[in-house]
Amino acid sequence: MRQQIVAANWKMHGNRAFARKLIGQLKTSLADLDNGAQVVIIPPAQLLAEVAGLVEDSSIAVGAQNVAQWTSGAYTGEISAEMLVDVGAQYVLVGHSERRTLFGETNAIVGEKVARALEAGLKVIFCCGESLEQREGGVAQVVVDEQLAAGLSAVGKEQWDRVVVAYEPVWAIGTGRTASPEDAQEIHAGIRLALSRLGAPEASLSVIYGGSVKDSNARELFEQSDIDGGLVGGASLDAEAFAAICRAG
Ligand code: PGA
Repeated sequence: MRQQIVAANWKMHGNRAFARKLIGQLKTSLADLDNGAQVVIIPPAQLLAEVAGLVEDSSIAVGAQNVAQWTSGAYTGEISAEMLVDVGAQYVLVGHSERRTLFGETNAIVGEKVARALEAGLKVIFCCGESLEQREGGVAQVVVDEQLAAGLSAVGKEQWDRVVVAYEPVWAIGTGRTASPEDAQEIHAGIRLALSRLGAPEASLSVIYGGSVKDSNARELFEQSDIDGGLVGGASLDAEAFAAICRAG
């Protein structure tokens, strides 16, 4: 069965005081959440242990924003998948467009990161999405299919149940411009086809949407037949807005 997932990508925002306040508010406002959505908080790395402690007595899960493509060694500044597990992470974002464009993460590197994360027992939220130029050039689905094939081709049969795909059109991230529910639905359906070609049990995989998800547009997006929730950036920094998005999940 496809799980509804609403994940909060805090990006490079927040400190311990912010985390305590926001998680406290979310725990109160989501205590009666009964739509079956899995809520995942993805704070910056220095807050992982803190947030893991704060959500321990709730159903909220914790994820990391990045993982190294190596298991250990002389890689100054990097954090391995096992280290993330050690501080309480259950999920990790891989292939976010900001990592791809600002930090030079190629499809090949993204594929290695997926492999390390799955080996360590993490659940992967695999991000894919086309640029505005690619969308206007009519190759959105082609680009997404390539990202999926490169990033997920090494996923083992028994590992698919720990893979979530997040479709995030680059032009919709942080811009206030959201894909229309119909446009997003079309790509999500295409993602399911691509996943089935990769050998995934696509009927049970969650495919979530990201890119300017707000409390005002979450419901119409999440209502689409192939959209199983959202990956939320800006709006996840506001407890009230994020809780409303979780309720729409
Ligand atoms: P946004 O970010 O909701 O601020 O557009 C989404 C993301 O980058 O995951």
